[in-house]
Amino acid sequence: MTRWTHPVLAFLALSACTSPTTPADPFEASGELIAFSGGEAGAGGACSTCHGNRGEGDGHLAPRLAGLDRGYAARQLENFASGARRHPQMEWIARRLSVDVRQKVAAYYAALPVATLGTSELTVSCKGARLYHEGAPRLGIASCVSCHGADGRGNAGNPALAGQSAAYLAHQLDAWATGERYGDPDGTMTAISRALHPADRQAVADYAAALLDDGGDRSSPATCLRTRRPGQPDGA
Ligand code: HEC
Ligand code: HEC
Repeated sequence: MTRWTHPVLAFLALSACTSPTTPADPFEASGELIAFSGGEAGAGGACSTCHGNRGEGDGHLAPRLAGLDRGYAARQLENFASGARRHPQMEWIARRLSVDVRQKVAAYYAALPVATLGTSELTVSCKGARLYHEGAPRLGIASCVSCHGADGRGNAGNPALAGQSAAYLAHQLDAWATGERYGDPDGTMTAISRALHPADRQAVADYAAALLDDGGDRSSPATCLRTRRPGQPDGA
C-alpha cells in the first residue's frame, strides 16, 4: 500500500503511465509531446484523453490510433481540418494543429505497437462474415477483403479494421452513408456504405471488429463461407 508514496517512485509510476514508449526519432518524440499535451490545441486536445495512453482508443467511438498508417492518419486530420470529415471535437482540434504538427503526431502513433481494447460479447453473424469476405456482387459491393485484407489489418491507404470497436466501424459506415464523412479516395467507401442496408453495416462492422490485430480471430466464419480461401483475397 505504501509502495507509491515515495515521491520519486510516485513520479516514475506517473511517467510510466503517461509515456509507454520513448521514441528515439526526434520527429516522433515531438509527436508524443502533442499526444499527451494537445500542443497548440491545448490540454482539451490531448489525444491521450480520448484515444488512450497507448493509442488503443476508448473501445467505443474514439478509434485506436496505435499502429495506424501514418499517411492515412495525417490525411484524416486534414479531412477534419477542412470539414470533409465531420466531428465537432476532432474538427476543432485538427484546425488548431499545423500541418507539420499533424504529421508529427501521426508519425508518433504509427510507430506505436498495435494496442487494442478487447471487445467482448460481439455477436458475429454469417451475414457479416459473407459481406466481409465475399461482398455483395448484386449490389456492386466488392469484398472488404480485397482492400482491408482477410485478417482486417489493412495496408498503407486502406486502414486496419481489426482492433477497432464495432461501434466505431458502424458509425463510420453510417457517416459515409449520410454524408458526414467525405474525402475517401474515389468515393469507394461512400458508395459501399450507401449501398448497404443499415442492419448490414452493423453486421459487417461486428464481423470486422471480431478480427483481432494480434493474429487472433474470434470470428470463426469458415462454416458461413462458400468461397473463402484463407489468407487470400477471395472477392476481388
Ligand atoms: C475529445 C476526444 C478526442 C480527442 C481529445 C482527440 N480525439 Fe481524435 N477522435 C475522436 C473521435 C470520437 C474520433 C472519431 C471521429 C469520427 O467518428 O469521425 C476521432 C478520430 C480520430 C482520427 C481518425 C482515425 C481513423 O481511423 O480514421 C485520428 C487520426 C485522430 N482522431 C487523431 C487525434 C489526434 C492526433 C489527437 C490529438 C492531437 C486527437 N485525435 C484528439 C476523439 C478525440
Ligand atoms: C476498393 C477498396 C475498398 C473496399 C472494397 C473496401 N474498403 Fe473500406 N476503406 C477503403 C479506404 C481507401 C478507406 C480509407 C478512406 C479514407 O481515407 O477516408 C477505407 C476505410 C474504411 C473504414 C473506416 C476505418 C477508419 O479507421 O475510420 C471502414 C469502417 C471500412 N473501410 C469498412 C469497409 C467494409 C465493411 C468493407 C466491405 C463491405 C470495405 N470497407 C470495403 C477501401 C476499401
